[in-house]
Amino acid sequence: MSPATPVSTAYASSTQQLQSVLTATGIEKAYRRGVWPARRSLTVLRGADLSLAHGEVVGLVGENGSGKSTLMKILVGALRPDAGTVSYDGRLGYCPQEPIVYERLTCDEHFELFGRAYGMAPEAERRARRAIYESLSFERHAATRSDQLSGGTLSKLNLGLALLADPEVLLLDEPYAGFDFDTYLKFWDLVGQRRQAGRSVLIISHFVTDEERFDRIVQLRDGKTQPRDGKAVA
Ligand SMILES: Nc1ncnc2c1ncn2[C@@H]1O[C@H](COP(=O)(O)OP(=O)(O)OP(=O)(O)O)[C@@H](O)[C@H]1O
Ligand SMILES: [Mg+2]
Repeated sequence: MSPATPVSTAYASSTQQLQSVLTATGIEKAYRRGVWPARRSLTVLRGADLSLAHGEVVGLVGENGSGKSTLMKILVGALRPDAGTVSYDGRLGYCPQEPIVYERLTCDEHFELFGRAYGMAPEAERRARRAIYESLSFERHAATRSDQLSGGTLSKLNLGLALLADPEVLLLDEPYAGFDFDTYLKFWDLVGQRRQAGRSVLIISHFVTDEERFDRIVQLRDGKTQPRDGKAVA
């Protein structure tokens, strides 16, 4: 599901954030479960802050259930926070943890559909699609329906759809979990190209193996973000 559309007035595409391309401040979120009288509330985020500068590649780490996906859904506007604000410049591309695809559509048809949703001219969409097929090596699956793709190829499609419109900010929720090593390396080539082009990338991961590939790593713990030891603090 991308691109994201702002869902509330708390979200504003801003040209005032000169250094940050995306800024989230004081994000709070609790999930309410059950019905009265057995209603319970689970507080996940307790004032999380996050900012991304132009051309910055940031890792967001934390234990299972620490709220990484919740925070990213709030950043892209798929989920409304209880408190806090999010502002960003330009376009967001979002790659959800669970691919959201249409099982009866082929890869080509997905790109066409998303290209139209992004308002891309057909030729620009086809050019971007070819580049994505090439950089992630899955052109041979162009005419394969998504319900017949392997898990790794489905992850490539999920990532490709987020990349299609060349967003200023790319938000990826565990993008390489299903990738083989060769694809993992291609993924990092792609991230490097985006950094060079001044595009920003936020990558959620359970654990970060290649720390040097990130400019900065942020840890989510007890509902708050903190710089992870050993990496520079922005
Ligand atoms: N829609 C929901 N309704 C109720 N609780 C939810 C919902 N979505 C997430 N949660 C709960 O909120 C907490 C944070 O979930 P979230 O998916 O954000 O964590 P995460 O850090 O992404 O975890 P993982 O590493 O497993 O992907 C978890 O305890 C989860 O069970
Ligand atoms: Mg998650």
